[in-house]
Amino acid sequence: MKLKLLFLLLCLNQMVAGQTRCEINLKTWEFSSDNTTWREVQIPHDWAIAGPFDKKWDLQKVAITQNGETEATEKSGRSGALPWIGEGWYRCSVEIPQGYDAAELVFDGAMAEPRVSINGQEAGYWAYGYNAFRVDVTPFLNKQPTSLTSDLDISVHLQNVEESSRWYPGAGLYRPVKLVLTQKSHIDDWSLFARTMSIDGDKAVLEVEGKIVNPSENMLLGVTLTSPDGHQHQGSHPMRIEPDGKFYATFTVQSPKLWSPETPYLYSIKAVLYNQANKLCDSKELKTGIRTVRVSREGGFQLNGQPRKLKGVCLHHDLGPLGAAINKSALIRQIRMLKTMGCDAIRTSHNMPSTWQMEICDSMGMMVMAESFDMWIYPKCKNGYARFFKEWAMKDITNLILNHRNHPSIVMWSIGNEIPEQWSEEGRQISIQLQGLCHALDPTRPVTQGMDRAEDALKSGFAQAMEVPGFNYRVHKYANNIKQLSHGFLLGSETASTVSSRGVYKFPVEVTDNSQYASWSPNYDPTAILKADGQCSSYDTEYCSWSNLPDDDWVWQDDYDWVIGEFVWTGYDYLGEPTPYDEYWPSRSSYFGIMDLAGLPKDRYWLYRSKWNSKEHTVHLLPHWTWPGRKGQVTPVYCYTDGVEAELFVNGKSQGRIRKNKAERLDRYRLRWNNVKYEPGEIRVVAYDEQGNNIGEDVRQTAGKAVALVAKTELDRYQADGEDLIFVRVQAIDKRGVFVPTCQNELTFNVTGEARFEAVCNGDATSLESFKQPKMKLFNGELVVILRPTTKAGKVTLAVKDYRGKLKPAILNLETK
Ligand code: GAL
Repeated sequence: MKLKLLFLLLCLNQMVAGQTRCEINLKTWEFSSDNTTWREVQIPHDWAIAGPFDKKWDLQKVAITQNGETEATEKSGRSGALPWIGEGWYRCSVEIPQGYDAAELVFDGAMAEPRVSINGQEAGYWAYGYNAFRVDVTPFLNKQPTSLTSDLDISVHLQNVEESSRWYPGAGLYRPVKLVLTQKSHIDDWSLFARTMSIDGDKAVLEVEGKIVNPSENMLLGVTLTSPDGHQHQGSHPMRIEPDGKFYATFTVQSPKLWSPETPYLYSIKAVLYNQANKLCDSKELKTGIRTVRVSREGGFQLNGQPRKLKGVCLHHDLGPLGAAINKSALIRQIRMLKTMGCDAIRTSHNMPSTWQMEICDSMGMMVMAESFDMWIYPKCKNGYARFFKEWAMKDITNLILNHRNHPSIVMWSIGNEIPEQWSEEGRQISIQLQGLCHALDPTRPVTQGMDRAEDALKSGFAQAMEVPGFNYRVHKYANNIKQLSHGFLLGSETASTVSSRGVYKFPVEVTDNSQYASWSPNYDPTAILKADGQCSSYDTEYCSWSNLPDDDWVWQDDYDWVIGEFVWTGYDYLGEPTPYDEYWPSRSSYFGIMDLAGLPKDRYWLYRSKWNSKEHTVHLLPHWTWPGRKGQVTPVYCYTDGVEAELFVNGKSQGRIRKNKAERLDRYRLRWNNVKYEPGEIRVVAYDEQGNNIGEDVRQTAGKAVALVAKTELDRYQADGEDLIFVRVQAIDKRGVFVPTCQNELTFNVTGEARFEAVCNGDATSLESFKQPKMKLFNGELVVILRPTTKAGKVTLAVKDYRGKLKPAILNLETK
């Protein structure tokens, strides 16, 4: 079966409307894992996410040297325990109507080593799976005047080799592919660059530049700037086109609406090209923001001249149960949750972001550190990017910047993460070279990278060479680092790596690094076998040997102006890297997330919110209060709040009103009652601000037996466009409606009407249940089901049932528009 007509028709429509540029998102393809049997798929597509999970897919015998390991041991689940290694083929056919003289394919990323052929002939290749790249298709257009169309049979071969990633990379055409058709003379897609030159009082100056491909004499070009309220600004006149096709325009904007995370105003820029006969040749539009970014000794990091500390999180690119296949609704959901936490920045660790994600950050207001590489010449895993670095690094940085430099959200480029060559002169030279390339392509943004070996990097001059010295972890070294930097500031480019599992609490509560609750633990204790669950405690006191607690980072940011902020490892759990359970099966996803793999907040979400969200009060109690068998046992209670004092009551009895204490590691940002004895009933906390005002309360009640399920959507409007996603949170409740945090029942999901089941996830890092089967166990009382509306508006019903019929089902009715 060939997939053809659709693309032709879309294009024709646009031609009738008099458009000279046609951009088509190529969504429907055929996919094969053996180049023989094919099935239709929609892209973005990840061929590995449906599983099955299996230890065999990515079993390795390695020493993770960056974690300080010296001996190779067996590691499982390190890259997700999903079948991403191997080859994949995609193909689709397009008929291009006559009238277009130039064409290109734009891949926003393809995992990995994409080889693109047109009509059986190789047309393009890119080595790095995370980068956007363009393939010139013009030579394949039919130039015969008698022919009405050009037939393009597009095929893409992908290959993912073993040990090429330290996390789950996904597999396939996991980001969009666009076909761009133009006239012979047209505006080069990545040449347009809008930048804020200055903001002075009530006036901003914006410069726009671009390049025309195949310019001819007497062409005319107009560039307009439209403000968020629809007001049009004309650029400086006359607009000159240089002989090489380059053009420049300057705009002076009075009372500019500046872009910031709090005010994500977007301006649009339109360049329109006319030929000698004054006929429209091409037009290209882009969105950008007016804003400046600066770093300096005096002000640290400044956005629009205002110093601010970055309240950031690192994100890997996978979307949990959706895998690497990107989806706008899922990306928006991530950013929405992060914003309610008070987070204002993300770091796209450790690779190039997708265009959709950057557009969402632009429009929702989220600053971005856009990263590029996890390694350079020296490999961190056997077949990683080190295979390509020498030949490809400059090309990769070039594409990263040209593709993304108009996004106001991006405030910093990063040229690497924990690059092994930090200690060497060679490393210093590469830093200078890559940073220089960033500046040449974009003089408006500072450049950074995350360093994990402070002493080495400072000794070699590697750290000093960076415009923004970024240090990963090891806050205790900050004071020594700053002394050796003339910059007068440093960034916590990666922080915390605190680990926890949603709804899991371990006793006794201890501050520990590398705690493991598994039967094979070195401190093997036969009674511990019952507790061997491959989980981490949500008291938020466990971290890795190289890392620390959230509280430890805040001390440095609060007490020293020169720490310009942080990027917490990580905002969300991700597939792969199940530290501290790298050697324990079945762990296959991370424990680092502030949110779990299903996107549900862990307790840590409230800890960060209490510190970062300065607009709303936070009062959050932990643990849950359903502990059959713990009666009379010490069960510490913590409260995460922006208040300074709080009083805790157990079944109405005060456990004392306590105050935050700056002198104690765990009492500066949290309130703790360490000696509370468990008795069923309820715990209640009342929190107070500095003036003694009550700022809020929180309660946990002991749940009875689970009797029913409840299902709630996160939003109330859904698009019938085949691409929107409906996230449904399912919980177990007892007969009084109290959430049952201990319920692990297996559920089934049945969707009828205008949506289909897309995926399900419970956030349990040790679950081997497929995300793509409509069946899963609750993890500590909760999970998230994801539905995808069809393209027809209408009613949707989701029935969530207990597999053994023990709980009253939840029936959710909704409508798509
Ligand atoms: C860092 C590294 C991250 C992740 C993290 C886990 O050293 O940059 O990619 O591995 O450790 O703590």
